[in-house]
Amino acid sequence: MDTNAEKKYFFEALSLFYETQWLNNIAVTEILTKESLDAIPKKWIEHLQILENDEFNDIIARKAIKPEWPDSLKKYVEKCQNINRLPSIQISPSKLELPQKFKIGLSRKKQHEIIHFAHLVHTQCKLHNIQTIIDLGAGLGYICQILHYLYGYQVLGLEKDIENVNRACIRQEKLHLDSLTKVKYIHCNVTRDSADTIESILQQEFPGFTNVCLIGLHACGDLSANASRIFCKIKSIKLFILISCCYHKLSISKNVHTPLQKKQYFHNFPTSNCLRETIAAHNFDIGQFLRIPFLRLASQESADKWYDMSKEKHDEHSFHVLARAVLELYSQQNNLVLKKKVQKGTRKSQCSSFQTYVKDSLLRYDLVPDTNVKLTGNVIVHDELEKGITQVWEEQNQKLEIVKIYSGLQIMLQLPAESLILQDRLSWLHEQSLEAVIVPVMNKSISPRSYAIVSHKN
Ligand SMILES: C[S@@+](CC[C@H](N)C(=O)[O-])C[C@H]1O[C@@H](n2cnc3c(N)ncnc32)[C@H](O)[C@@H]1O
Repeated sequence: MDTNAEKKYFFEALSLFYETQWLNNIAVTEILTKESLDAIPKKWIEHLQILENDEFNDIIARKAIKPEWPDSLKKYVEKCQNINRLPSIQISPSKLELPQKFKIGLSRKKQHEIIHFAHLVHTQCKLHNIQTIIDLGAGLGYICQILHYLYGYQVLGLEKDIENVNRACIRQEKLHLDSLTKVKYIHCNVTRDSADTIESILQQEFPGFTNVCLIGLHACGDLSANASRIFCKIKSIKLFILISCCYHKLSISKNVHTPLQKKQYFHNFPTSNCLRETIAAHNFDIGQFLRIPFLRLASQESADKWYDMSKEKHDEHSFHVLARAVLELYSQQNNLVLKKKVQKGTRKSQCSSFQTYVKDSLLRYDLVPDTNVKLTGNVIVHDELEKGITQVWEEQNQKLEIVKIYSGLQIMLQLPAESLILQDRLSWLHEQSLEAVIVPVMNKSISPRSYAIVSHKN
């Protein structure tokens, strides 16, 4: 590993995210309350708002640059291109297919993920003569079952949610009865200290096992970082193949309240000494700018999705972003906070106009007094809420085109953000003297979390 080159990369990535906090350090609901739209340089807007839909998509998805642009905009696009170190090979969606009986009840996305991940795991296990696999965060056991069915592996699925374990067992009895001795589901909350527990479960379930491969498909939050540690600790685990997801679910180690914002520091980001030393050498305070909004951005769909996005889709997207931001602005202006009544926020299908959007939102959210602010007025009744929110919409709705530009510029940071997080994890493995690479596994437009870290030890 060339540490100087790594440090240079980390420094450039940190500088980009420091400079573009108006895009990456703000929840999308707050673009009006935090006035982020006003932070877009006026000259950028002049050049971006005159583009045809296809030209705009080309910039966002392909990083096309126009010679007449201001240097700052050209540099921004170039930096987004350079900070993304994730391999850009596109996986063909139709290359591999699940057997028919595995397709039942699974979305096209899930089918695509399972068959491509299983194929990678098998290719790697074959290379290293491995017959036993541990799947961390096994969910309903899709990957465990297919690895056994197609390639004959014995698989231990560890899962912290007991309901998932039960459902995986029920599915197995119903659909894969012949796998009962070879595929085992065990309830286990995997933490950084789980190495001994996992070894004894393995010994109990598959006595006489030899070399093992540790896998995780869409291991969320801390599970990914803990999986790397477990891989290092357990001697019989020779191979590690992990696709992460939900970076924003990483646990916070420290919150620091400042008058302007809440600084957030995480247990498992950064993980490598290389990134930590770069941060220290340049005095970056990452709690101030690599916060949950940054991790959330890294967890989003990639800009590839914008490649052939129609004007109608752009308009719909901008409408939803701005409408939600208007709810937030109205709430702030009236010392209210939005509380979700049901699991999901506003249903997209219901919102052909702002009137339906407001009605739907008021069914789904309560606007309750902000307990941090001393109340001066009376409680606002439903009709007044609707009228007040609509009035704010009328004041703001000329910003729809600016929202489209903002969203485009923001999504260009998704791959660089994910790249920084995965490069940090890769560096950590290199620092443990392990070989490790990042491999594209799935088609990004079908499944956005599509990169695996693959590592091997002797
Ligand atoms: C996004 S789901 C992926 C499930 C499965 N791998 C798949 O691709 O279908 C993540 C799963 O990991 C489980 N999980 C999260 N943290 C875990 C932990 N610390 N230990 C064990 N399982 C965990 C969750 O309960 C969930 O089932």
